Amino acid sequence: MADLILGQVLRFVADPFFDGPKAAEHIRQGAVLVDQGRIAAIGPAETLKAAHPGAGVTDYGAHLISAGFVDAHVHYPQTAIIASWGKRLIDWLNSYTFPEEMRFADPAYASAVADRYCDLTLAHGTTSFCSYATIHPASVDAIFTAAQTRGQRIWAGKTCMDRNAPEGLRDTAQSAYDDSKALLTRWHGVDRLSYVITPRFSPTSTPDQLNALGALWAEHPSCLMQTHLSEQTDEIAWVKSLYPAARDYLDTYESHGLLGKGGLYGHAIWLTDREKARLREMDASLIHCPTSNTFIGSGLFDMGGLKAAGHRIGLATDTGGGSSFSMLRTMAAAYEVGQLKGRALHPAELWWLATVGSAQSLHAADRIGNLAPGMEADLVIVDLASTPAIEQATARAKDIWQALFPTIMMGDERAIHATWVNGKPTR
Ligand code: GUN
Ligand code: ZN
Repeated sequence: MADLILGQVLRFVADPFFDGPKAAEHIRQGAVLVDQGRIAAIGPAETLKAAHPGAGVTDYGAHLISAGFVDAHVHYPQTAIIASWGKRLIDWLNSYTFPEEMRFADPAYASAVADRYCDLTLAHGTTSFCSYATIHPASVDAIFTAAQTRGQRIWAGKTCMDRNAPEGLRDTAQSAYDDSKALLTRWHGVDRLSYVITPRFSPTSTPDQLNALGALWAEHPSCLMQTHLSEQTDEIAWVKSLYPAARDYLDTYESHGLLGKGGLYGHAIWLTDREKARLREMDASLIHCPTSNTFIGSGLFDMGGLKAAGHRIGLATDTGGGSSFSMLRTMAAAYEVGQLKGRALHPAELWWLATVGSAQSLHAADRIGNLAPGMEADLVIVDLASTPAIEQATARAKDIWQALFPTIMMGDERAIHATWVNGKPTR
């Protein structure tokens, strides 16, 4: 039986960075018809009720129905070390991240964290995410199994590192290639799961390993490739010393077959003009991780300039360098970073980034990240008055954007009334 879901409906028909708020369509008394995991129709509640009298009705009243959030860059193995105090990137990796990632040698631990992480995403209205695992192949099995059980569309890959990481957290160029290939063969395209080739970043890979992963990507071009790029100035100086012949940080990937349209480059803060031009030319994805960039002290991403130049950009928590699992909090941080860069992002732009933009960055905007007939039915139902502070701030709202912005700036998982995955409510 089809489900008819009633509430305020918000979806996008264009990109608000170029078309303004009219890129969004808002139906105050709207409805979404869901059938067999897909969106079958969207329209005014009365129209769809009359057209589908046999559908089971779920009435969410004044709550907002949106596409579920898409988190384009996370490290699920860092779930337990989120909000670790006092370090910048390289020290943070060595002090907190690598010791925690060592624990994933135990598949039971990996499964427990993967289950916890997926439950946290759904509690925060995030229906899809793209995650790094650890170097351990079983950590990839763990997150794919956890997402598969819940019906989530996710991307994940084995993190590859063959230098500048502790004993026990290093693979080799050959084993990284072999393990990634075996995992890709096992998981890529199974149900809603996609494998992502995952060199952590240039400092923890030898040129041989980058070459091996570049070759694997060339053999499997339907896979995405994710890595980190120009996050902190100290990191960039380290990359320069490790790759003296490279023109810049991006060139360490480019010269090893790791620059392409399906490439996802996390952070991308301190880009040179050449790097920007090459990334734009390739239509590669830049992933903005604002809570991480402030928490680890990395810098301010130039959303206004990069969007105006036509870059493909997604939004992400970067759990656990990022300080929140919430894409609402992440939108708030993107707004604050935008203000510091002199560009106030409109609520339509923020919501678009967390849904359509991230889906576009993952080359999946035809399936997830928006509400349209034929798309997969991943939905978040948002309470726009989830706390007394938010409720009083929206009391005089004159339009959907004034009603939504306090939830963007102050909302947390209390604002997530329900999350639907693959056409079914999960909570
Ligand atoms: N650069 C390389 N690895 C990481 C990581 O785990 N988190 C962040 N924020 N940056 C990285
Ligand atoms: Zn990261």
